Amino acid sequence: MRYLFLILVSIIGLSHSAKLLAAAGVASAHPLATEAGIEILQKGGNAFDAAVAITAAIAVVEPSGSGLGGGGFWLMHQASSGESLMLDGRETAPAAAHRDMYLDNAGEIIPKLSIDGPLAAGIPGEPAALVWIAENRGVLPLAESLAPAIRYAEEGFEIGEHYQRLMNFRHETVLASPAAAAIFLDQDNVPEPGWVLRQPDLANVLRAISDQGFDGFYRGPIAKALVEGIQNAGGIWTLEDLANYRVKVRQPVKANYHGMEITSASLPSSGGLVMAITLNQLSKLDLSSTNSLTQTHLLVEAMRRAYRDRAAYMGDSDFVEVPTEKLLSDSYAKSLKETISQSKATPSSELDPIAVDDEKGTDTTHFSVIDSDGNRVAATLSINYPFGSGFVAPGTGVLLNDEMDDFSSKPGTPNVYGLVGNEANAIAPGKRMLSSMSPTFLETNDRIAILGTPGGSRIISMILQGALAFHSGADAKEVVSKGRIHHQYLPDRIQYEPDAVSLKEIVQLYAKGHSLTPRGRTWGNMQAVVLDKKSGELDAASDPRGEGAARVIK
Ligand code: DON
Repeated sequence: MRYLFLILVSIIGLSHSAKLLAAAGVASAHPLATEAGIEILQKGGNAFDAAVAITAAIAVVEPSGSGLGGGGFWLMHQASSGESLMLDGRETAPAAAHRDMYLDNAGEIIPKLSIDGPLAAGIPGEPAALVWIAENRGVLPLAESLAPAIRYAEEGFEIGEHYQRLMNFRHETVLASPAAAAIFLDQDNVPEPGWVLRQPDLANVLRAISDQGFDGFYRGPIAKALVEGIQNAGGIWTLEDLANYRVKVRQPVKANYHGMEITSASLPSSGGLVMAITLNQLSKLDLSSTNSLTQTHLLVEAMRRAYRDRAAYMGDSDFVEVPTEKLLSDSYAKSLKETISQSKATPSSELDPIAVDDEKGTDTTHFSVIDSDGNRVAATLSINYPFGSGFVAPGTGVLLNDEMDDFSSKPGTPNVYGLVGNEANAIAPGKRMLSSMSPTFLETNDRIAILGTPGGSRIISMILQGALAFHSGADAKEVVSKGRIHHQYLPDRIQYEPDAVSLKEIVQLYAKGHSLTPRGRTWGNMQAVVLDKKSGELDAASDPRGEGAARVIK
């Protein structure tokens, strides 16, 4: 009888887990990209088809953040198999790239060479990722999932303040590329909100991908136009670089924080590892029994140590040996935790002396999607700096990335995000530059969250704080809105949003030996979808700092 009861319970349990969710949900950085995802879900596409649609749509409607000329990481969970994987569509260094390509004869960095213009661009991974996702996980043809993006590119859409603000920042760089200026500027001026951006060349590239898959971008006339335009402007891409590009399927990094499972990006993103190293220390520090001041102090100390490991050890694991197992071990977390004082800040110079400068830059993009079968995708995509390298090869409409700046051009010298690195992240042909992009799944007994954000080096600390908030019960809106602090080992200071720490805590943190710098509330653009495992209800939110939109459909 007892056995019969158990069998019945497990059958009910199984049928419950196989049952459709009450809804599907999308959160992205632009309302039109969210709509593209919803449109494809309503046409019978799954979360992976929706991810293809959103990736392509956001490339068109938020050209400052990501695009076909860039790359990203797509963290995917397939409900039927229970499998999670990370699709690595990160850019690679061209074959002619070399370790010192951004240094002058005296060994000094040549300003802007890794940020502006075609020499800054790695070989894009996003088109190959679109094809891989559609072919391996989607149920709709690529042509159907790319249709909304093609429509937006052809018919145009009105730009907003976000576009204007970022273009103000990159105006000069975009002006230097006549093909880019003709598309993204209003007669060479920064366009006003409401101006309609039309991208017919980009629509043609999307159509070529939808007709020919990988070859539509990486071989044939578009590849030829890209290489010609780039070489004419002093770049080093070749047709072989494009034809040789491959996405990689990687195992995500997993960590556990007091019963919450974290699944996040693996190398060549440092995101999952840095987050795991931080959380492993915090697991041993019992944050719940301390006040908010001590929590901030301990979070900063744990992040300081994890970001130091980023600088010291991390790079593309296909090229360098990264001691991943050691960094994730319990004994390592214990050894780091033992160096943390409850009362005093540890100066970063006591951990490892590398001098660095300030950090700047706010772009890239993230979206989260779940379908009614429970398939889910968290994707963080980038062309790096706002509007990438600012360069478009004539006739292509594809804005190229400046992701080469994420390599360590010179050991110990910071990149645009103030991040330092060493040999592990040195430039080499075919190598992927170290990233901070951290698309993440969180799972507790009751709920699942799908989240991510742009923000350069700060991505990791933002997701960490989002994860801690989620662990304490925060809903999607609280997770994306909450005030944030940041510490990245060097520069040795806490940066904070106005509502993240009280005046009293600021004074107390100074007393512990920290230095602090306030920052405006322009930090990141987090997108979250949260599933209640028992009810199947969904909750989605887009960061109030951005112009995105979240939608749940029944
Ligand atoms: O891969 C990275 O870590 C960077 N290229 C991401 C850049 C970014 O998030 C810019 N936004 N602030």
